[in-house]
Amino acid sequence: MLEKIDALLVEVENFSSINKDEIEQFRIKFSGKKGIINDILAQFKQVPNEQKKEFGQKINTLKQAVEAKLEGLKSATTSSILFEKDDLTKPGFPSELGSRHPINLVKNRIIEIFRSIGFAVADGPEIEDDWHNFTALNLPEYHPARDMQDTFFIETNPDLLLRTHTSSVQIRYMEENEPPMRILSPGRVFRNEAISSRSHCIFHQIEGLYIDQNVSFADLKQTIQFFTTELFGKSKIRLRPSYFPFTEPSAEVDVYWGLNSETDYRITKGTGWLEIMGCGMVDPAVLANVNIDADKYSGYAFGMGIERIAMLMYQMSDIRMFFENDKRMLEQFKTL
Ligand code: DAH
Repeated sequence: MLEKIDALLVEVENFSSINKDEIEQFRIKFSGKKGIINDILAQFKQVPNEQKKEFGQKINTLKQAVEAKLEGLKSATTSSILFEKDDLTKPGFPSELGSRHPINLVKNRIIEIFRSIGFAVADGPEIEDDWHNFTALNLPEYHPARDMQDTFFIETNPDLLLRTHTSSVQIRYMEENEPPMRILSPGRVFRNEAISSRSHCIFHQIEGLYIDQNVSFADLKQTIQFFTTELFGKSKIRLRPSYFPFTEPSAEVDVYWGLNSETDYRITKGTGWLEIMGCGMVDPAVLANVNIDADKYSGYAFGMGIERIAMLMYQMSDIRMFFENDKRMLEQFKTL
């Protein structure tokens, strides 16, 4: 009897099929009502007492082997049934390719240009404190220039706000590093402004900072000219005197865009010139706030809006397009 069960075990082990009918026959043969297992169990009574234990274990092993076999074949057939049904020559589901966002394309290009002349990338938080966004940048409380940047404050803590510009990263970097330093900080900034085709409450800026011995205004001008030549292919620039609390002297940079087309005429308002950034020599008061010796070191800083530059480069007329995620717009940047 025991040998018979051993032989059945081998039979179970060796059985294999992906045919549903054959598998069902196998099930009936072993586990059916009048199947082998029930048949053997019926003979259990006649087994001498001293063999009952071994016999019982053998039957259990056989029962489990049959169950495991059926389970294995069932999962094999479900996948092979799927296989039979599928037409493998059919074209696959189209998977859509994404594209880089124009803001990132422009940001990466600007970083690449400045990296080639030794600028590293530095980061700072979007939720900033008053010191880094304003006070250390020579904008103490009640300074009228604070109104130039309508600020979102964090209601539960009057010292916290959403940074209004990436100039805050200058302060953070200068606090933690020793000159010489040459950094670029791209990031999101926030202003409590009405949304229109020209302005948004969220946008992106890139800040630049260079501090070393004997840095001059000529270095600043030369660097910016290198930048506009690389980015736009335009080397004619002009620096208009301006005011920023954190730089002295300060300037706004215009690039000569030309008047070659109707669009050029429109976007430059007939002048040929376009403003692209603010800049200046870092105010000694700012250096003092971060414990850098203004007698030994000097430096320049600049800041520009990425949306503005992207709109120029891609001839886009509405800043809101950058935030709407309209695929028809985004898909146009696939090959860039
Ligand atoms: N932070 C200024 C703004 O948001 C931009 C700027 C102007 C940054 C002059 C500078 C700078 O570093 O020197 O309008």
